[in-house]
Amino acid sequence: MKQKIQVFCLLVLALFQLSNSGSAQQFFKQHPQINPYQYTVVKEQSFQKAAVTSAHPLASMVGAAIMEDGGNAFDAAIAVQFTLAVVFPGAGNIGGGGFLLSRNKEGVLMGIDFREAAPSKAHRDMYLDEKGNPIEGMSKLGASASGVPGSVAGMFSAHPFAKKTMKQLLQPAYELAADGFVITESEARSLNAERKNFIKHSAQASAFSRKEYWKAGDTLYQPELAATILRIQQNGKAGFYEGETAAMIVEEMKNSKGVISLEDLKIYTPKFRNPIEFDYRGYHIISFAPPSSGGILIAQMMQMIAPYPVSVMGANTFESVSLMVEAQRRAYADRAEHMGDPDFWKVPTTTLTSNAYAQERMKNYQPGVAGNSKMIQAGVAKESEETTHFSVIDEAGNMVSVTTTLNGGYGNKTIVGGAGFLLNNEMDDFSIKPGVPNMYGALGGEANSIQPGKRMLSSMTPTLVTKNNQPYINIGTPGGTTIPNQVYEGLVNIIDHNMSLKAAIDAPRFHHQHIPDNINVEADFPEKTINALKEKGYIVNKRYAFGRMDGIMILPNGNRVAAGDKRGDDSVAGY
Ligand code: GLY
Repeated sequence: MKQKIQVFCLLVLALFQLSNSGSAQQFFKQHPQINPYQYTVVKEQSFQKAAVTSAHPLASMVGAAIMEDGGNAFDAAIAVQFTLAVVFPGAGNIGGGGFLLSRNKEGVLMGIDFREAAPSKAHRDMYLDEKGNPIEGMSKLGASASGVPGSVAGMFSAHPFAKKTMKQLLQPAYELAADGFVITESEARSLNAERKNFIKHSAQASAFSRKEYWKAGDTLYQPELAATILRIQQNGKAGFYEGETAAMIVEEMKNSKGVISLEDLKIYTPKFRNPIEFDYRGYHIISFAPPSSGGILIAQMMQMIAPYPVSVMGANTFESVSLMVEAQRRAYADRAEHMGDPDFWKVPTTTLTSNAYAQERMKNYQPGVAGNSKMIQAGVAKESEETTHFSVIDEAGNMVSVTTTLNGGYGNKTIVGGAGFLLNNEMDDFSIKPGVPNMYGALGGEANSIQPGKRMLSSMTPTLVTKNNQPYINIGTPGGTTIPNQVYEGLVNIIDHNMSLKAAIDAPRFHHQHIPDNINVEADFPEKTINALKEKGYIVNKRYAFGRMDGIMILPNGNRVAAGDKRGDDSVAGY
C-alpha cells in the first residue's frame, strides 16, 4: 500500500511537471535572493520602506519582494496568503477563511470578512445524535466539519486595491507547490504527528502522506495543490469555486458525511464589515467586527482597565494581571451571550463597545479580590489552536492585517482528493449545542447556533493602531479564544509598559475566558505573580505556549520595525 501511494504520487508529480514545465520558476528565477531550498528565520529587523511578518520566512520574503517589484501592501497580502497555503499548510490555507483589515494611505479603513459559511444543508442539530448529544469528532474531523471555504474569494475581494494581476500574485505559491521547498523542523514534526489522521480522513493519498517520515530539510512537493493554484490563475475565482476544483471538493464530501454542495461553493461571497474603533490612552485602535468577537472584546477590555494606573502596576505583576483578568472575565461573558454572525443575530455592538458600558461592567470590580464566574466549570481547552496571522506595511503607509485559519491544526485533516489542499473544521466554532464547550472550551448560545449560510463566531483579531492619525502598529496572532487576550496584552505591553514590539510579543501571556473560571498562563510566567494570584483564590494553570504573534511598528523616523514571535518559525522581511 505504502509503495503504491509513493508510485502514484511520483507519477502525478512527473506528469504535472511535464505539462507545466513552461510556466514554472518565473518568480524565483527573478528573485534569486529567495531560495526555497535554503532560508533562515529572521525574528526582528528594521526596514526603511516596507515590511512583512508572517508564520514562515518564505511567505514574508515573497511579500517583501512583491512590494519591491512595485506592488503595494494589498498585493503583498494576497501573495502571502497564497504562499502560506503552500509553505505552512497547518494553518495557511485556501480551504479555510479569515479576516482582512486594512487602512490605506489616505486613512480609509476596510474589513473583508472571508469567514467560512455553513453549507445550505447545515442545521442547528446536525452534530447531535438521536438523544441530543454531540457526536464525538463530527464537527472537528473529516468533511462533515467543513464550512464553505472563503479564503480564495476573500483574496479576490481585496484584489481591486492591489496593482498586480492575480496571476502574478499566485505565481510564487504555484512555484513553491510545483517545485517544492524545504520544510522546517516544526513542519516535519507536525506532518509526522498528523500522518495517520491525513490517511484516515482523506479519500485519497496526498503529498503529505508521500513520505512515511518527514525530517527538517526534506523537500515537500505538492503537485495537486500546484494544479489547483494553476486553475485559479487561469480561471480566476471560478478556478476554485466552480469546475474541476469544486467537483473535487464535493466528491471529497462523500467520504465523511460532508454537506458542501456545488451551489454552496458557487454562491460563496465575502462581506465588507465596518471595523470596530476605539481610543486608548491617546491611541486609536481599529479591529475586526462580528462575526469576529475580537474587536469588541479588546474594545471592552481596554476601556475597562483605562481608568487604572496599569503602567505603575507593572507588567505581569499581581496588580496588573488581576485587574486585566477581571476585565477578561466580564468581556468573555458577553461573548458567549451576545456575539454571532450579525447577519443572523442582532449583536449589540454599539453598547458593548461603549466606554459607558465598560465602566458599568467594572462597577462591581474590587481590586485584589478574585471574581467568580458563578457557573459550573467547563473542560480545559486542550486541543490545537492553529490559525495564522500576517502583517504588511508598504512604502506609502498602507497597512494590511490578515488573520486566516483552518481552525484546528491542518483543519479537519482532510486533503481534498486530487486538489491537494486541506479543508477547515470551522463548523466547530459554532455552538453545536448550547452549554457544550467547543475545542477551545468556549461556550455559546443561540447567537452562535448553526443556520444555513451563517458564519461561525470567531476570535480572530487583526488589529491596527494609529497615533495622531498616522499609521503606527499592525498586529495579530493565532490561538483560538486566546487571540483577543493576546492582542489586548500585547498592546498594553507596548502602550502602558513601554516595551519594544518584540518584547511585547515575546512576553509571557495569561488567559481567562469567563468559563472555565481559571487563569491559564505560559510556562515562563512569573512565579511570584502566580503565587499571589493563588493566594487570593484564583485557579492558575500552566499550559503550553499561546499563539504566534506577528507585528510591525512604525518608528518616528518612518522605519518599519517588524517582529516575529519567538514561539514559532515566524519571520520578518522587508527593504
Ligand atoms: N477558528 C478560530 C477562530 O476563528 O477564532
